[in-house]
Amino acid sequence: MRKLTRREFLARSGSLAGAAYPAMMAMGFLPGAPAHPFSLEGDGQGKQVVILGAGLAGMAAAYELGKLGYRCTILEARERAGGRCWSIRRGSANTETGQPLQTANFDEGQYFNAGPSRIPHHHALTLHYCKELGIPVQVYNNVNEAAYYFSEGKGPLSNKKIRMREVHNDVRGWLCELLAKGMDGGRIDAQMGKEDAQKIIEYLRAEGGLDIDKLYKASARRGYIEPPGAGEKAGRIADPHALSDLLASGLMDPDFYNVAEYTYELQMTLFQAVGGMDRIAAAFEKRLAGQIRFNAEVRSIHNTEQGVRVVYAERGAGRSLEADFCICTIPLPVLSNIDHNFSSDASRAIDSIVYMNTGKIGLQFKRRFWEEDEHIYGGITHTNNQLTQIFYPSYDYLSGKGILIGYYNFNEKARATGELTYAQREQLALEKGSLIHPQYRQEFETSFSVSWHKTKYSLGGWALYSAEERQSLYKALLVPDKQVYFAGEHLTYLNAWMAGALASARSVVTDLHARVTGQTMSYPKQ
Ligand code: ALA
Repeated sequence: MRKLTRREFLARSGSLAGAAYPAMMAMGFLPGAPAHPFSLEGDGQGKQVVILGAGLAGMAAAYELGKLGYRCTILEARERAGGRCWSIRRGSANTETGQPLQTANFDEGQYFNAGPSRIPHHHALTLHYCKELGIPVQVYNNVNEAAYYFSEGKGPLSNKKIRMREVHNDVRGWLCELLAKGMDGGRIDAQMGKEDAQKIIEYLRAEGGLDIDKLYKASARRGYIEPPGAGEKAGRIADPHALSDLLASGLMDPDFYNVAEYTYELQMTLFQAVGGMDRIAAAFEKRLAGQIRFNAEVRSIHNTEQGVRVVYAERGAGRSLEADFCICTIPLPVLSNIDHNFSSDASRAIDSIVYMNTGKIGLQFKRRFWEEDEHIYGGITHTNNQLTQIFYPSYDYLSGKGILIGYYNFNEKARATGELTYAQREQLALEKGSLIHPQYRQEFETSFSVSWHKTKYSLGGWALYSAEERQSLYKALLVPDKQVYFAGEHLTYLNAWMAGALASARSVVTDLHARVTGQTMSYPKQ
């Protein structure tokens, strides 16, 4: 039989209506659908765009504008690309306000992600760019019932590391028992038919692991104190923690809410770039060879009659650049200190939007005791102290050395940690961490900490908005200020995510291209 030409195939399968698209995909006639349709038409005709910041937003904008025939120059204050998308490896260096230069002394091959460390499975745009740029990803284990809850100095369970599976199953069990008793006594289901009430009781029994009398007794769900094995080893289960103890120890406080499973962005499956999240930044950088000027610190941004003029200092030497347009991705607390002639609405927004205080410390250990001694492979331990969280690495399992994220904290705790010297932060992480993992003292080698709100050229983790600010300050920056467009995670509802930076880049590229080519379009398409 004669093979169909592509045109003939498309013509014929077009008549198959709904079946056509998947059929064409299966036969390789159509490329995989991108995250969001983004096939802009028309030519940028060599218009010049100066982009401020070689973070993900700036680089994605330059990459997409390049495809459309624009000429882009990126000014980057640091000597590296990526912005907050940064993995700390041997030789990584950082300067924080009021602190000396800090240089990482990790072994070759060891790293931790100081900024983004996880990609939710529904962040299709991030995964889309990983695919387009050839960046391998691996599963990031965000949910691990073998990790601990640790309540310091509170109640009868104080300073005991308790496996998450114990707390989760005990709380679930006790609450289900309470509800089932209430249902039984007819106190809860006044409006409910008998049949539905029975179904709910059955559900509570299954959900809480209740016995035939609807009472919560410990089961294997919460793990063993002696594991089952060969011969006579049936395994031994401990009694549950009393509900009153769990409450008194704060294990039902917000510090320990089950965010990993209940928060949309934190539900499995999550991903990470193999070898460090900075591989994403590196892949964009590679495609922008010669377009990024490093060590270029922006001093002023001025709309002119026809375009934009940006004055900057390159290794101390004053320079300026004129362009038709500017895309400014500089984080707002940094931009707030740069001279500009923007409208008063834009200026107020830049000066007022608050960013998150947040910090992490990477701790390198001689051996992976959390894996070898405690069977913890990825996931997060939660605490009510300064540490807030300890993250276990989701890569190189069963290998020799490893880096834990010794704390990842926010708000007041991060502010206070940020005030400490690097040595004091290390001491804090070791002191508090060794309450949970006594192996710390024996196995610790070296650390590196990042306090984002104190880090030059970032001055914050991510933008924070109240509902009112979304209606006022936020909207003022969604529109261009004459020839200057604003982009970054701060101009999305995806704050603190790489997907935000990438979506914002696509959005301003669309707006700018629509203006240049006289088309009407928006991103994402309505
Ligand atoms: N996106 C940030 C995180 O994963 C907030 O922790």
